[in-house]
Parts: sequence; structure tokens; C-alpha cells
Amino acid sequence: MKLKKEGRRDIETISSKMDELRQKQIQEGIFGFDNFTETGSNAFSDMGTDLSSDRRECIIWSINHYLNLNRHPYVIEKSIEATRQFGTGCGTSAISGGMNVLHKKIEDRLSSWYNKGIMLFPTGFTANLGSLAAICQEGDHVLIDSESHASIRDGIKLSPTRRWIQFEHNSLEDIEAKLISSTKECEGKIIVVVESVYSMSGDICPLDKLAELKKKYDFLLFVDEAHSFGIYGEYGKGLSYHMGVLDDVDFLTSTFSKSTASIGGFVACDPKYVSYFQWGSNAFAFQACFSPADAGTILAALDILETEPSHVESLHKKNVYMRKKLIAAGFDLGSSLSPVIPVYISDTEKLLKVCFDLYKNGVFSVPISYPAVGVHEGRIRFIVNANHTHEHIDKTVDLLSKLAADYDLLDDQKQMRENGFIGKIKNTTSTDSISTQFN
Ligand SMILES: Cc1ncc(COP(=O)(O)O)c(C=O)c1O
Repeated sequence: MKLKKEGRRDIETISSKMDELRQKQIQEGIFGFDNFTETGSNAFSDMGTDLSSDRRECIIWSINHYLNLNRHPYVIEKSIEATRQFGTGCGTSAISGGMNVLHKKIEDRLSSWYNKGIMLFPTGFTANLGSLAAICQEGDHVLIDSESHASIRDGIKLSPTRRWIQFEHNSLEDIEAKLISSTKECEGKIIVVVESVYSMSGDICPLDKLAELKKKYDFLLFVDEAHSFGIYGEYGKGLSYHMGVLDDVDFLTSTFSKSTASIGGFVACDPKYVSYFQWGSNAFAFQACFSPADAGTILAALDILETEPSHVESLHKKNVYMRKKLIAAGFDLGSSLSPVIPVYISDTEKLLKVCFDLYKNGVFSVPISYPAVGVHEGRIRFIVNANHTHEHIDKTVDLLSKLAADYDLLDDQKQMRENGFIGKIKNTTSTDSISTQFN
């Protein structure tokens, strides 16, 4: 496919080619998108797809509601109550009066959790995008992980900085090498951007080791806690808190769309940056606030996090159960430890076929391939939810084992490991304690 025409991206050619590919995949019955649930997000739901009028009951592994709080009666009640009291939408951005007292309560609650200033954004995506676009300036060097989320990449691209440098996924050695050269060359500040749990691999970032690097090199540390907020540390304050490095984290961001079952995002940082973001971040100043129902949901979910630890315990136990079964069946889960479990399939066509076979047998997840991950690093992500049962896990692993034999997946995984596409960087001992504490 020709991507460039006279130096520009030829959107007509790309769109036609993509549409051709989509129609072909639909005809072959392997198209991986356009799915929807009939009965809403849950560990188990009726799924529909664009492919036919076919509807089937599925165990769902693609949704990030780790704690299933979207189905908690108290959370639902508080969401309805907020709508009754404050109406539906907010109608404008925070600086134009879009916030209500519920948003304020969220700010206060998180401020006391982190002992930092809090800035709310309408989504987790725009919390990253809006803050990074404002923080990174001309002359700065921004060091990012090769598995960084799109919101991080887009935020940096929007900023005036021209030097963003990718380091090898989760490699402290490579981060240090890049820090050494940036320290020599950089005319502005150095910013290191990581995710506490990587969304595509489930790998955990050695934040404690990064905090140690801060003693040797002068840099700002930006940590996206989207997949650890609500899950790790006291009340689910996240991994920076759990590893005792909150003071070393200059910018902590997260989303409310995952463990807290709503929508919205936040940045926790020094209050001076909050003052700056209020006028320096377009995504904050020119975007309407999340709705009262969303705010009511978040506050209720935070209440549950503080009072009902059983949801988090159940999640971690099921994560351990699922991992043990997959490993016993011969799957290579790379260095993943968190409730994001990757099953690697390098060949894209095989990946789509396996996903569709899973779906036909009542197990739903989505294929992830390039450009969301590296070219030969395709995978299906299994995101564990506190509401998944052992029966859900058993059925899924049994089916995966059968498909592994049909499609020769285990040999493929061996090759992926040999070629460095799986598990290149080992977890450090400090992060191992995170998975084993729930055994
Ligand atoms: C690591 C990471 N950061 C940010 C986001 C954006 O969050 P949201 O979808 O809630 O806007 C996501 C969402 O998938 C994510 O995985």
C-alpha cells in the first residue's frame, strides 16, 4: 500500500484499501471489529456483531471494568441520584462553570489520597493528551516506552517538543542509556513517561527503580496509572503509592473508565502545575466536564474502594487462577503479572481466525495487531474481572488449548520468544511480590 503521495498521506488511497480489507474480512467471517453487547458491559453478556443477525452468550474478556463496579447496586443508585439532583450533561468546561459540587468532591478525595493538586479531565485519554501537550516544551527531551499508549504519543505530538525518544519496553538499562545522552544534549528539561501497568502486555513498570534513577539524573517522571488505579495499593491508590514512590512522581494520571466504572480522567501533580494547566491545556479549558451521573458513579466507586476490599481480592485471586491455568497449558504469557493477560499470536490472519473461533464458542475478546503493537507482536488480551467465575476461566482456557493445537500456537510462541518478541525484559524482584501476594 502506497502511504505517501507528494509528501502527504494519501487519505483516499488508504481509506479505499482499508475498506477493501474490511469487506474481504467480513466476507471471510474473520472481521474483528463492529461488535457490541446486547446487555451492557459485564463478565458475561449477549454479544452481537455486524456480521449477521447472530447473537450469542459470551464470556467477555475485553472490558476494563476490573472490579465490575458498573453492576454494584450502590454505585448504580448514586449515579441515578446524581442525575436526579444535577441533571444530565454539564454543558461546558470547568473554567466556564461546568463543574458541580460532585466534581469538587472527587478533586478533594483524590487530593487527600495523593497529597497533590488534582486536575479533572473529561476522559483518561485527554488527561494524558492535555497534560503532556502542555508540559513538553521546545528544547525538552521526552523519553517514552516503546509500548506507550496512543494518548501519550498524541499528547507529545501536539506539544512544541521535537525530541521524543523511545526506549526499549520496560528496560531500565535502556532508560539509563537514554538519560545519559539526554543529560549531555538536552537544552530544556527531560521528561520520562511510563505506564505503571502496560495496557497491551500487562507488564508492570519498575517504578521503584525509576525513582532511584531520579537520584542520579535530573528528570520529571510522568506515570499513567490507568490499569493500576483501583487495583493496587491501599484503597486502589495505584502502584506509585504501593511502591512508596509517590513523592518521586511529578505527574500521575489515570482514568475513571476502568476500575471505577465511569468515564473521566485526572492528573495529580504539584498545585503550581494545576494553575498552569487551567489556561495552558486546551483539552481542559475547551472541553466540557464529564456528566453528573459519571461524577456520582466515581464518588460511589471510591466509597466502595475504601470500604469493600473483597472486590480487589477477588480480582487478584482470579488473575492468579487464570495465569496458572494458562501456564500449565503451555502458554507463554511474557512478563505480564497484572489482570491484563496476553495470549500471543504473531500471524495476523491466524489471530483473527482464533478470535472468531473463540467467539463462535461463546468466548469474546478482540485481536490486537500492528499498529497497536509491534509488527510481529499480535495478541489477544484477556482482561480479568472480579465477576469472572472459575467456570468462565476453565472454559476459556480449555478452548484456547484446543485452538493452540489446531493452529500450532505454542510453537509460534516459542519462536516469538526466540526472536525477542515476547518477554525480552524480565520483571525485577520488587514487582514479583505484586503477583505473589495474592496466591
Ligand atoms: C494506558 C492507558 N492510558 C489512557 C487510556 C485512556 O483512558 P480512557 O479510555 O478512559 O479515556 C487508556 C485506555 O484504554 C489506557 O489503556
